[in-house]
Amino acid sequence: MATHNDPARATVTPSMARGIRVTPRLPEFVFDDTNLPEQWFANDVGITATWNGLGVFANVAETLFVAAGRKLLARIDDPAVADETARFMQQEAIHSAMHARMNRCLVARGLPVEAARGFMQSLVDEAERRGGSAVFMALGLAGEQAIGELAHAVLSEDAPMADAAEAPRALFLWHFYEEIEHQAALHDGWEHVYGRGPDARAMRVLGAAYAVTAIAVSMPALAWAMVPASHRDERWRGATWGPAVRQLLGDRGLLRGAARNLRALPRLGFHPFDMHDPLTMLHRAKRFVQGIPEAPVKTPHPGDAPTREAPTVGPRDVARCVGFVGWSVVRAARFMAAQ
Ligand SMILES: [Fe+2]
Ligand SMILES: [Fe+2]
Repeated sequence: MATHNDPARATVTPSMARGIRVTPRLPEFVFDDTNLPEQWFANDVGITATWNGLGVFANVAETLFVAAGRKLLARIDDPAVADETARFMQQEAIHSAMHARMNRCLVARGLPVEAARGFMQSLVDEAERRGGSAVFMALGLAGEQAIGELAHAVLSEDAPMADAAEAPRALFLWHFYEEIEHQAALHDGWEHVYGRGPDARAMRVLGAAYAVTAIAVSMPALAWAMVPASHRDERWRGATWGPAVRQLLGDRGLLRGAARNLRALPRLGFHPFDMHDPLTMLHRAKRFVQGIPEAPVKTPHPGDAPTREAPTVGPRDVARCVGFVGWSVVRAARFMAAQ
């Protein structure tokens, strides 16, 4: 990425080079019993519970992304890169707030959203406690790629989420559009701070290992918890989960791109735009953000100069990550048993 501080030769980030301006928008989503049916996705218990779980996941993950962006921003001295990182953070903060609106509706109908948030947050906190600050940021990096690829998969369909009720569908499609719009932002902030060398790569891979663990452990547990009381008996039946598993992990499953991206991420020169041309999708999906007002953008204060050196990953870091896998599985099992 071309970055420097000479105003006469302003930095062009990879997003800017493609004409992408990360744009925080402020939608006015409102959720209530009339526009959020109990089984709002495909009239299916398992699929709806999975997407309600995804809403809880997103609500917590967005705060992680904002915190990761803030840590990077403190070390980004380039105005253009800092501005893009700040715009990304603003988008994520608004995503979190909008998912919280939908989640409040789920709380009102008795779903254990707060317990699920607490469980999810405990995974994030434990990852940071074991891995430290750089792992926390790298976890955010990988999470961004997984969600960005889910967004590509959903929006590449001719009628994305056609079986979903209109209100939650609009929330997710607006969110997914912005995930593609900013898919490179955190990565480019990271490269500005830590560069593209082997240490930065190793840290990205370690962060991805934490991210894969957190996603693999939390998604089934959150879906389990989001089944309404009236359907609790059905949680042990395979048929309850079959449609959701096929939707996410089947031949044309929505997580196919996330798996491909995370396999590509260990490459030394990996960049999110290697996977797709984001512009094609953004043009195609523009209608999902049309008419949503732009939020005022806050100009960030320039940070300190980056060191451009990532912390080295050693055997102890790998051992801590393995410990996190075991800890997460036990934590998820306890959480599910309590629901
Ligand atoms: Fe988001
Ligand atoms: Fe994001």
